[in-house]
Amino acid sequence: MNAQPRRVEHLQTDKGSVPVYTTAVVEQPWSTYTREDHATWATLFERQREILVGRAAREFIENQHKFGMTPQAIPKFSDLNRVLKQATGWELIGVEGLLPELTFFDHLANRRFPVTWWIRKPEQIDYISEPDLFHDLFGHVPLLLNPVFADYMQAYGKGGVKAHGIGTEALVNLTRLYWYTVEFGLIRQDDGLRIYGSGIVSSKGESIHCLESAAPNRIGFDLQRIMRTRYRIDTYQKTYFVIDSYDELIRATEPDFTPLYAQLARSESIPAGAVLPGDDVLQRGTGEGWADNADV
Ligand code: PHE
Ligand code: CO
Repeated sequence: MNAQPRRVEHLQTDKGSVPVYTTAVVEQPWSTYTREDHATWATLFERQREILVGRAAREFIENQHKFGMTPQAIPKFSDLNRVLKQATGWELIGVEGLLPELTFFDHLANRRFPVTWWIRKPEQIDYISEPDLFHDLFGHVPLLLNPVFADYMQAYGKGGVKAHGIGTEALVNLTRLYWYTVEFGLIRQDDGLRIYGSGIVSSKGESIHCLESAAPNRIGFDLQRIMRTRYRIDTYQKTYFVIDSYDELIRATEPDFTPLYAQLARSESIPAGAVLPGDDVLQRGTGEGWADNADV
């Protein structure tokens, strides 16, 4: 019998009905995956593997190979953990879905990466509004093998615990950083612009759109600029921020953010699609097809 995710309740918010899951760490119920679940994994895996050649960052592709993930079956967390623990000390833990912020930060701060154990249904192949196993495993796990990126993720977790203690506004600023780097980041490499953001690599449409469309802005990484910038959760991003290396990321985020949060609290947020005078503009987007309803 197919096991079901355990939702504890649904919260009504301005984004509609949001599922709330138990915060417990769960053993991956691998034997309960159905043939349909494994087939969904295979379809998504093969499709993205092809699309990402020449589009994903070098490290993403190389590290994915090191895990030995294949389209044949949904990977076992325990197999991936053997590789991961030995390489960077990270550990994957099974969860039911999105976690409360502080729980999530605490896991990252201790080098535990929460992975949703269930996979989307066939009718959600092209789009699902919440993270599932494919997004978490395929999207996030490869870069945890990169030593610098692995450190960045832990530093982010520690920073999150701290921001949580400072207040809601600090958390909003920090979440934007995660969004525009870990989830939707682009990187300039020797052979061109590449994707490292998990939200992009796990999306067929956005993998192509973010690099090839004339619609979005592509702007050089700027910490404070990013922390002021709103984003989209229901459409492709209007703006992508581009780093030159993971070192750039970790160096820029090393200083204590406490004074920065105080300063940012006094400045206006920036609309998702805006281009500002000081921006390092790689591409100014045409804005074609942009929804003009409010950014998050
Ligand atoms: N240096 C940040 C702080 O003091 C922590 C942090 C590191 C945040 C890396 C994000 C990414 O809050
Ligand atoms: Co994600």
